[in-house]
Formats: sequence, C-alpha cells, structure tokens
Amino acid sequence: MQQHIKAPFHNVTGGLFDSVIKADVGEGAGKIIESGGTILAWADPDFPDPAMPASVQQALIDSVNHGVSSHYVMPIGPRELRVAIADKIQRQTGLDLDPSRNIIVTPGSDSGLFYAMYPFLESGDEVLVPTPTYPNNMVNISLMGAKAIEVPTQAENNYQIEKSQLEKHLTPNTKMLVICHPNNPTSVVYRKEVIADIAEFVIENDLILICDQAFEDIIFDGIEFVAPASLPQMLERTVTVCSMSKGYGLSGLRIGYIYTSDTLIDKYYGAAVNILGAPSHLSCAGAIAALHDDTIINERQVRLANRRATVCEIFNSIQGVSCQAPESGILQWINVENIGNGADITQFILQDQNVLVNPGGQYGKGFEGYLRLIYGCFRDDVQLFNACERVKDGLINFK
Ligand SMILES: Cc1ncc(COP(=O)(O)O)c(C=O)c1O
Repeated sequence: MQQHIKAPFHNVTGGLFDSVIKADVGEGAGKIIESGGTILAWADPDFPDPAMPASVQQALIDSVNHGVSSHYVMPIGPRELRVAIADKIQRQTGLDLDPSRNIIVTPGSDSGLFYAMYPFLESGDEVLVPTPTYPNNMVNISLMGAKAIEVPTQAENNYQIEKSQLEKHLTPNTKMLVICHPNNPTSVVYRKEVIADIAEFVIENDLILICDQAFEDIIFDGIEFVAPASLPQMLERTVTVCSMSKGYGLSGLRIGYIYTSDTLIDKYYGAAVNILGAPSHLSCAGAIAALHDDTIINERQVRLANRRATVCEIFNSIQGVSCQAPESGILQWINVENIGNGADITQFILQDQNVLVNPGGQYGKGFEGYLRLIYGCFRDDVQLFNACERVKDGLINFK
C-alpha cells in the first residue's frame, strides 16, 4: 500500500517504526512521564498541574448539567463564541469584525493553521517562512506539496524580520508568507515598523500572509503588539490564526479561531464541515466563559512576568550559556552554541536528568546551537525552578 501514498506524505512518520522520540505522538513522552521524568518541551501552560480557571470549570459543569452539549454546534462555531471573539479582537487590534462574516472557530489552532493555508497552496508554490519558527507551519506547507523557503532571522537583530531578506528569497513561485507573531521559539514580538515593512512587502508582491498569533495574549515590558491584519489593505490578504491554548491556558479544550476578510472566510465557511468537522460544544461553552473573564490572562501575565528573571538567572549563570528574558508567553530560548549541539545536549539532559527540552534545530536551519524550554510549565514557581536547575546540571555535566 505504501506506493499509493502521495509524495508529500512519504517522509511523514509517527515514531512507530523508527527510533525518533517525538514528544507529541507515539510513546516517547509517555515513557518519560511514567519514569518520573519532567517534560519542559510542550508549550502547554501550567503542564502537568491541574489549572482550570473557576469560571471555565463552572461553564463546563453548567453545560454538562444542562445536557445540550451532546449536540453539534455549527461547524463554524456557535454565534455566541464568535461574538465574544470579535469583541476580543476589537479590544486588541481595533478591527471591527462581523462575527458572521469574518470569524471561524477551529478545533485548536493547529487545525486552524492547516486550514488557513489549504485553499491557497499546491505543488510548485513557494512559501517564505522567517525562522526560527513553529515547525508545524513548515510541515503544513510540505504536506500540501508546496515548498517552505526558510528566511533566517538574526539574534543580533533580536530576530526581527528584514524586508530585504524576504526580497532576496522571492521568486515568481512565491505565493505566501507565514509568520509566527509573537514568535515560537524565541518569544520575540515583531515591532510596529517591522510589521509595517511586512505589510508593504506582502502588498507589493501580491502575497497572502498567514499570521500565527497563538501567543498574542501575554506580552511583557509594555512592548506594543500590532496585528498585521489591522494595517490598511491587509485584512483582505491576511489570514490570522489564534488560539485559546496559550494565553488562556485551555489547550485541552482544543479551541482556536481564524479571522480574515468576508471574501476569504466564505471559502472557509464553505468547506468547514468537510475539513474541520465542528468544534466541541462543551469546549465552546468553556471558551465563551474564558473570553468573558479578564482575570485569567491578567493572573498568568503577572505570574510569568515574575518568573522570567529567575529562569534567566539560572541559565545565564552557566559558563558558555546565555539567554534573554522572554518578550511574550511561556517560552525560553537559550543559546548553548559554545558548549555543543542542541540535539546532543537535549539527548544528554534526558539521560542525565530525565528532563525533556527541545533542540533549537527543530525550529529552522542554523539554530542548532539553541535549546527551547517551557518556563510556563507547572503552577508552582519552585517546581519550575527546580526543573530548570536540573537542566542547568545537565548543561554543566555535558561534555
Ligand atoms: C506557535 C504555535 N501556533 C499554534 C499552536 C497550536 O496550538 P493549539 O492547536 O493548541 O491552538 C502552537 C502549539 O504549540 C504553537 O506553538
């Protein structure tokens, strides 16, 4: 049967027939957890601790007690949730969107990202992807038979995207630009002027922009967050993909959403049931409650802001290792190039300390000298600091 599998899937594996430990499929992560190990490699706020906000918990209980959540919701998501999302987008970006013409709910933003790209990409298309970036975005492109063209950003420039670099990689086949803003893995927020340059580049070259804003909700140090879709002429050529997983810490509910122009959303509405199915009724009830409860994001913002300094101190105290305080979210990006390769170090830390982190090379070519870890893991600061100390011991022991 293998010969019938289409080309883009030839190199796709789930870890069943090879020794690769994938953190998110197969039994790799399960074995680490069973052996008492610690996973700092899943971008899942507070993992593995119980962490459901009271307002969301109550909404889920009410929905179960009412009994209606056994039924479907509309494949594009219930109107009440789309209204709450439109209201959030208005407050965050100033965009006035119509909940019934500009927004679609998706079962998590991973499926949203795939769906966002799907109407556009086919074999032969090239997609510019500034790196380092969320690896799934590159995989999505290749699953559609298109080609991801990596455009590396530079640490010296705080990983900001440079228009001249995008122009260098442009060909007649370039159809799309995919950015992750704020960025996974660096946590960097693209500055206002950079977003303006990106908009200019996208308009000048008649491209579609996919903007992965999964980490938009928690930004530190008063850095201004500008959504590209909010700039003139950009809503019509930007598909923005957002998540309830990161800022609200509701990864288990699997709720994300896409917003764009009515012309494009009509396509997404039209094929929603075929490709997305529909979101979970129960999860939609939880998401509505979360969007009405500002304390969720505020509490997390304060907690994470306080953690950042200690985490950086732990890693900056190691000779040959350096990091900067995250600009957003729950991710810590660490430079280990002076002591070795990130993939070797990741393996070593797992063996030596039973802690899983991510090697930087997963996020793009040229970033092999980095590690990423989730400093937003655990509810309790001390547990997180202890886990970071174990990573530190692994880094010191690494030869
Ligand atoms: C940058 C980024 N985008 C999107 C996602 C997908 O998140 P979800 O499907 O939980 O919304 C992730 C998950 O780690 C991510 O890191």
